[in-house]
Amino acid sequence: MLKSKKLHTSVISQSVRGQAFHIIKFLDSRFRGNDKFLRVCHFKPNKGVIMIEEFIKALPKAELHLHIEGSLEPELMFELAERNNVELPFATVEEVREAYEFSDLQSFLDIYYAGAGVLLHVSDFFDLTLAYIERVQKQNVRHVEIFFDPQTHTDRGVPFQTLITGIHKALVEAKEKYGMTSRLIMCFLRHLSEEAAMSTLEDALPFRGWITGVGLDSSEVGFPPEKFERVFAKATAAGFRKVAHAGEEGPPEYIWQALDLLGVSRIDHGVRCLEDPKLVQRLVKEKMPLTVCPLSNTKLRVFDKMEDHNLKKMLDAGLCVTINSDDPAYFGGYMNENFIAAQKGLNLSHEDVIEIAKNGFRASYLAEDEIDAHLQSIDDLLGQQRASSGTLVNQQIPGKNE
Ligand code: ADE
Ligand code: ZN
Repeated sequence: MLKSKKLHTSVISQSVRGQAFHIIKFLDSRFRGNDKFLRVCHFKPNKGVIMIEEFIKALPKAELHLHIEGSLEPELMFELAERNNVELPFATVEEVREAYEFSDLQSFLDIYYAGAGVLLHVSDFFDLTLAYIERVQKQNVRHVEIFFDPQTHTDRGVPFQTLITGIHKALVEAKEKYGMTSRLIMCFLRHLSEEAAMSTLEDALPFRGWITGVGLDSSEVGFPPEKFERVFAKATAAGFRKVAHAGEEGPPEYIWQALDLLGVSRIDHGVRCLEDPKLVQRLVKEKMPLTVCPLSNTKLRVFDKMEDHNLKKMLDAGLCVTINSDDPAYFGGYMNENFIAAQKGLNLSHEDVIEIAKNGFRASYLAEDEIDAHLQSIDDLLGQQRASSGTLVNQQIPGKNE
């Protein structure tokens, strides 16, 4: 009988249900030339290795693209509906979740605006915002820049003061309880008129100290940024920072307009920029941040599946890409879930993940010294992990790593 001889041994690390394992493989001389040539010898826990999912969870992160109304989980929707005597077109939480199958942006927005109908009082906006904060502080999100859509509420008779007070109170609590910093960005609904946006800007002026910037959201195609040039000029005069959703479903031309006519300092989504090489050149040159939302883009069919997402191509083109959740209650994930889905789907390296997390802080509206402190905290984490294990690993067994 042939004696077994190990011709070549390799040790790799893989993750199985979140636990890191060493897998020791060797080539067995007895089976040379057939499919048993490669034998898996050992499969043992490896406590010294940090798998990429664990690494992502531990990373300090900043979220720059989050619609607070999009963080309304079905459970809270039902609780608020009961508290406020609002009738919902759904009988159960499960029914709500089943309705979250979207074919495009508009099919989502119809449900999203309807869901926001349960928000009536200061306490509702406070509970909504604090629920989001509590979720993401557990995910090591250290700074958030939150969008809110005043017109969704003022058009239903909810005063501007009511919604801004509830949101602001929760953000004060976020700082006191968790040390989490925040900024607020008020979005104009682009499917409504310029006049309506102007009057919303007027509503915001008494609360200028609580609001850092203005943005542009809602149905994109057919509602180009140029429609809001005068509104953004007025916002500039009032000292607001400016961002805009552009190039989510709309063409690269909308990104040009957001830059040239609105004067934005960040583009929300912007994934269609890759269709225009001159635009990419400009965005790279200006280090213009793009707040990309991977799970949103697959849920709303901008890309059929994560493997088709162009985030890695954007990163490789030198663009300042950040990862964000957009409307986490509707799209199946908060910050960690978005990072993990993009990492898996696009096989992002540790370096990619670190760069994206750092971009989140670099692109924020924090002061320079605060940004530097967050970047240092990422480097400190890397230093600690390297010192304790020496290895960062991102191989996974398909389908077994949950
Ligand atoms: N409002 C909430 N989510 C949005 C998105 N992904 N695009 C445009 N408007 C939105
Ligand atoms: Zn958005």
